[in-house]
Amino acid sequence: MEPLHDALRHHGDVEATAGLVDLAVNVYDEARPAWLDESLRGSLDDVGRYPDATGAQQALAIRHGRDPDEVLPTAGAAEAFGLLARLRPWRHPVVVHPQFTEPDVALTQAGHPPDHVLLRAEDGFALDPRHVPDDADLVVVGNPTNPTGVLHPAAAIRALARPGRLVVVDEAFIDFVPGEQESLAARDSEKAPPGLVIVRSLTKLWSIPGVRAGYVLAAPDVARDLRAGQAPWSVSTTASAAMQATATGQAREEQERRAARTTTARQVLVDGLTARGIETVPSRAPFVLARVGDGVHARLRATGWAVRRADTFPGLGPDWVRISVRAPAVTQRLLDALG
Ligand SMILES: Cc1ncc(COP(=O)(O)O)c(C=O)c1O
Repeated sequence: MEPLHDALRHHGDVEATAGLVDLAVNVYDEARPAWLDESLRGSLDDVGRYPDATGAQQALAIRHGRDPDEVLPTAGAAEAFGLLARLRPWRHPVVVHPQFTEPDVALTQAGHPPDHVLLRAEDGFALDPRHVPDDADLVVVGNPTNPTGVLHPAAAIRALARPGRLVVVDEAFIDFVPGEQESLAARDSEKAPPGLVIVRSLTKLWSIPGVRAGYVLAAPDVARDLRAGQAPWSVSTTASAAMQATATGQAREEQERRAARTTTARQVLVDGLTARGIETVPSRAPFVLARVGDGVHARLRATGWAVRRADTFPGLGPDWVRISVRAPAVTQRLLDALG
């Protein structure tokens, strides 16, 4: 096995150390809805039995207008990347970077180190499907992408489809985009080409990184083969409860409220950075990639602020940082510190 690169295993949580204001972890910053907490607590009544994710699978199928056999609940999106990496003996896997690095690590661990297609700052980190090699049998792309925040048009992602290729779209942050614009989660036989695999996460929007709840939407044969690679009972009773609780109409309303609040709060951050002459990448995610300059990350830490270093992402250097969108009052204090 290739040695793992420490840089690719670096995540925002290790930067948010005690005593620093956390703008490194992109977990939504308001309290969880009471109905979600009730459901999480209620799940404890059932933990004396082995978990069964069938109820979650059915609820998610209804939420996305898919058949239950197209839905695979997972222990977070992270489990899905491992399952996908081990799904086939990939000949030419490609990860579109800069993006979340766990798919890369999972592929390397599985013995299939991926090629990188690097999107460029000069192009606004836009996805050009022509840059992906024709013979790639697996392509992984984030939408919106962590850490750039760029939301790729669904058409650009559809254009990646090829016979015999799986296109994995990491939609872990798309629930922050109002109306889930550009999502390919809903099945639409005309628009969604075969081979699309959508990975979703409940972690960020619902502030439950400790629960480990995510899922995959894919063609029935792909979902079946992924399921075959899963450890038994990997989705806990509590994770299943979270999936069911957040698949309701009530949850959709709360999701849209959170997405709208994030959009407004992000503008405060972007306007403040721009006013200070700091370049930002237009973001549709709950974070902003900003070119603050080399050394600023460390200086912010020294003054009590944790922002996510970006030099561990392929294609980015030490002049970039990723800043989480927070309540405007918190953002204002960060802007003052930057000033
Ligand atoms: C883009 C992206 N995808 C997936 C994940 C993993 O999500 P989960 O907590 O569901 O494993 C993260 C976590 O940081 C992420 O940033």
